[in-house]
Amino acid sequence: MRNLGLGSLLLVLFSQIHSSISQSCSAPASFPSNRAFAACKDLPTLSSSLRWSFDFANATLSFAFSAPPAAGAGEHGWVSWSINPTSEGMLGSQALIAYRQADGTMGVKTYNISDYAIKPSPIDFATADLAADFVDGVMRIYGKMFLVRGMTVVNQVWQVGDAVSNGNPAKHAFNAANMNSKGKLDLISGRSTVTVESSTKDRNVHGLLNAVSWGILLPIGATFARYLKVFKSSDPAWFYLHVACQVLGYALGVAGWGTGLRLGSKSKGIRYTNHRNIGIALFALGTLQVFALLLRPNKQHKLRFYWNFYHHSVGYTVILLGILNVFKGLSILRPGNQWKLAYIIFLCCLGAIALLLEAFTWVVVLRRKPQKSTKASDGSGTTNA
Ligand SMILES: *[C@@H]1O[C@H](CO)[C@@H](O)[C@H](O)[C@H]1NC(C)=O
Ligand SMILES: *[C@@H]1O[C@H](CO)[C@@H](O)[C@H](O)[C@H]1NC(C)=O
Repeated sequence: MRNLGLGSLLLVLFSQIHSSISQSCSAPASFPSNRAFAACKDLPTLSSSLRWSFDFANATLSFAFSAPPAAGAGEHGWVSWSINPTSEGMLGSQALIAYRQADGTMGVKTYNISDYAIKPSPIDFATADLAADFVDGVMRIYGKMFLVRGMTVVNQVWQVGDAVSNGNPAKHAFNAANMNSKGKLDLISGRSTVTVESSTKDRNVHGLLNAVSWGILLPIGATFARYLKVFKSSDPAWFYLHVACQVLGYALGVAGWGTGLRLGSKSKGIRYTNHRNIGIALFALGTLQVFALLLRPNKQHKLRFYWNFYHHSVGYTVILLGILNVFKGLSILRPGNQWKLAYIIFLCCLGAIALLLEAFTWVVVLRRKPQKSTKASDGSGTTNA
């Protein structure tokens, strides 16, 4: 009994190893009707590979794409491979999707993907000899595609899913591997470069710009304004420090905001609605704050009190939303725990400094009160007033 258990375990293990090897280029693959291919590339995500031969003279591509369907779905899942002649992602792809058809056999259908509700449709390229099979846990699509002459570098997009519903592939997962399964393929040299890197770089630039601006500079600038003011000797200085921090923070923040919009428009398939809405609110409030500076009433003006109230409430709202959105961004980008930790440590330090200064401010204000009761803390500078 025990031995049998071990035996079947080994068998399962062996078949797993076997299947994880059989789709890669290092293992020999045999295809029906002796199809053979000149080139092979292991694709960087989803354990998939592409074998192909390309005839430059008549732009004929014969290919075989292999990948295990998602989440161990086996023959109940689906795999797809496509060329996108217009852009890099899923939208616009001229896709071939393999899955078990209604009659129970493995088959391939073409999908001209113009929105996320996909259905079989003719594609831009003529095809021939399309077929699919399911061998050792791996689903394969093979056939010929007649490309446009002169087209030698193409955008390829591949994907795997775990279910077929109503005769159509169901939505795939949205893990990093599923979102990064695209890249350029040079049909002649065989080089396949992945577009992931640039988009990961864009995301990091976006994260850094926004964390530094909304998450760090603006809170520091607000701290200057609130606490340096009580030192008489710092009178014009605090104001300039505050303005410098906030203007620099705002400028970097707008740049970061721009990168966010670009990322959003590039990744049509995924939407981080809250992160995006908070970002838009931040931009609007931050812009309001900069323009309000120009409308600042004179210090003696009777409206100055209301202006101060407005300036402080919008300012604190921006800071709180900024910090919140940095955390939201960190949870989307997942740059590693040390970054989140570093940011939390920064916030704790700033908070501790603010708390100390708050206590100190009260001591100063209370001491000063008997001699000069009118000017305790009216939240205003003398400069530019
Ligand atoms: C393309 O050219 C190759 C070699 O000249 C030939 O074997 C193949 O049949 C041609 N394919 C088509 C579809 O014309
Ligand atoms: C594929 O879809 C696009 C966008 O809807 C359309 O412009 C194009 O003509 C379609 N291609 C084919 C072959 O139907």
